[in-house]
Amino acid sequence: MDLGIAGRKAIVCASSKGLGKGCAMALAQAGCEVVVNGRNEATVKAAAEEIAKATKAKVIAVAADVASADGQAKLFAACPQPDILVNNNAGPPFRDFRELTRQAMLDGVVANMVVAIELIQKVLDPMAARGFGRIVNITSSSVKAPIPGLDLSSGARAGLTAFLAGVARTVAAKNVTINNILPGSFDTDRLRSNFKATAQRMGTSEQAAAEARAVTIPARRFGTPDEFGQACAFLCSAHAGYITGQNLLIDGGAFAGAF
Ligand SMILES: NC(=O)c1ccc[n+]([C@@H]2O[C@H](COP(=O)([O-])OP(=O)(O)OC[C@H]3O[C@@H](n4cnc5c(N)ncnc54)[C@H](OP(=O)(O)O)[C@@H]3O)[C@@H](O)[C@H]2O)c1
Repeated sequence: MDLGIAGRKAIVCASSKGLGKGCAMALAQAGCEVVVNGRNEATVKAAAEEIAKATKAKVIAVAADVASADGQAKLFAACPQPDILVNNNAGPPFRDFRELTRQAMLDGVVANMVVAIELIQKVLDPMAARGFGRIVNITSSSVKAPIPGLDLSSGARAGLTAFLAGVARTVAAKNVTINNILPGSFDTDRLRSNFKATAQRMGTSEQAAAEARAVTIPARRFGTPDEFGQACAFLCSAHAGYITGQNLLIDGGAFAGAF
């Protein structure tokens, strides 16, 4: 399927690994010029080279912290007029909510809510003026089904979701859409680090911890960054202009609700 976005310019935040990288790869496959981002310079360069080699697209590596003003300035210096913005950032660590200090709570809200809004503030009106814009926020299945210990992540991302539900309606007529993708369990470094922690806690192997989780998912496996990226690219496509303010849960059927 031709997604109709060849030549479009995309900034994909936090995309040197995992889900963000899956999105960057899929957008590059669709012919977009893509900014790939991560804090570690070597990793982001390697990801950009890998994506450019695989797709022949123009891929720009930007080593920067997306949560900082300086990092955001670097992203826009590399791509001043993005047509597509994929918001992503690391999530807060697993922690009992009783242990969260005020500063930790504020940091979590900044990381998983404020940063995405700041970037959207910068791109939204220019997108509307040009008559095309696609914004996708990587949130989490925990927005629909909160996970104890990840309360800060769930709360900040639910806040982002509600905040943008209003904003999305203000630009729909300008062919600018804002949607969220909610990952369940995807095979990335982050998920693997969870299994490492579980294995240490339970005195078992990482493999056993991963298998124990996989059997709880109707698909009996974890999602891949490629599957995630392809869904993201469709939401960024020319065909998706009538889809806005939506939450796409991709979790292999793990959330057992009808809606
Ligand atoms: N994987 C899952 O199953 C799953 C499920 C639900 C929600 N999520 C959420 O989805 C998001 C992505 O997860 P993932 O599994 O893809 O993680 P990952 O494999 O650990 O990749 C994270 C990527 O983000 C970059 N990054 C982290 N902090 C950054 C920052 N401040 N500025 C710029 N880049 C940054 C990392 O590079 P550097 O470290 O070099 O900066 C890396 O490229 C996270 O918010 C996670 O909580 C994931």
